[in-house]
Amino acid sequence: MIAFSGGFHGRTLMTMALTGKVMPYKRGFGPFPAEVYHAEFPQPYRGVTTEQALSDLDRLFHGDIDPKSVAAIIIEPVQGEGGFNVAPFDFLHALRGICDEHGIVLIADEVQGGIARTGKMFSIQHAGVVPDIVTMAKGLGGGLPLSAVTGRATIMDAAHPGGLGGTYGGNPISIAAAHAVLDVIESEELCARAARVGQKMRSRLEALAKQLPCIGDVRGLGAMVAFELVKDPKTKEPDAETTAAVLAHAEKRGLILLSCGTAANVVRLLAPLTIPDAVLEEGLNLLAAALQDAYGRESTRAVA
Ligand SMILES: Cc1ncc(COP(=O)(O)O)c(C=O)c1O
Repeated sequence: MIAFSGGFHGRTLMTMALTGKVMPYKRGFGPFPAEVYHAEFPQPYRGVTTEQALSDLDRLFHGDIDPKSVAAIIIEPVQGEGGFNVAPFDFLHALRGICDEHGIVLIADEVQGGIARTGKMFSIQHAGVVPDIVTMAKGLGGGLPLSAVTGRATIMDAAHPGGLGGTYGGNPISIAAAHAVLDVIESEELCARAARVGQKMRSRLEALAKQLPCIGDVRGLGAMVAFELVKDPKTKEPDAETTAAVLAHAEKRGLILLSCGTAANVVRLLAPLTIPDAVLEEGLNLLAAALQDAYGRESTRAVA
């Protein structure tokens, strides 16, 4: 299996092995299954271009694993825990080509970016790339515990009936919730709504970034938006301390935020897709105030 740096895929043994972020997911656990390789995830802000990421994959194919022996490549089209890094679309196309060339299964992990979050049902649809397997969870159950995997029939039907299962699999109440969620996504046009919510978040963050050079990058797709805090916009040194301070000030003001990123210096915004405009506005005002608290009013008096 090939996965990517900064990726997060879960807490079972195999998915921990696939995860490309040590803290808090891998430290103290293991040993992990063998034959899981990690390639570089493209990150334009940090200077990792599509070409460099592809050449890193090539390095694996020459130094570590014959591509003909690779079962699958798994990728989050928009990394969640890794810092809301959006895989460039040309990179996803190139992965599809590599998988087709060598008979490798392409898995899109849509657990965080799927189910309308990015403005399409699945984030990989933005790139126009069709994966062989898709994983889903989070938004799918509308708050009830549910995850799902689907894919090409040749793969999904390979296991014999009863060969896959678990105590909590197929929970009927969660599945009823998922049906309701899918209906609401359609009837309330939540894909379009996600794009609008994301646009609002992004334009407010971009305005804040003009006043606060410590906001080194604003990125995301649809209503999956984040900003990265750095000590100096030139060196781009991650600022985890101030990020923690922003979260603490926001919490005091009644706004719950989550950080992410391998250096814990990215603040992610994952507002509900159904959030009323006024509540979104209120949240963004609280965020601006929390940034003021963390950086001191003097240097950020223009922030509003
Ligand atoms: C992209 C991604 N994949 C997988 C997982 C793990 O999902 P689960 O907890 O349902 O195993 C998560 C959870 O945050 C995730 O964000």
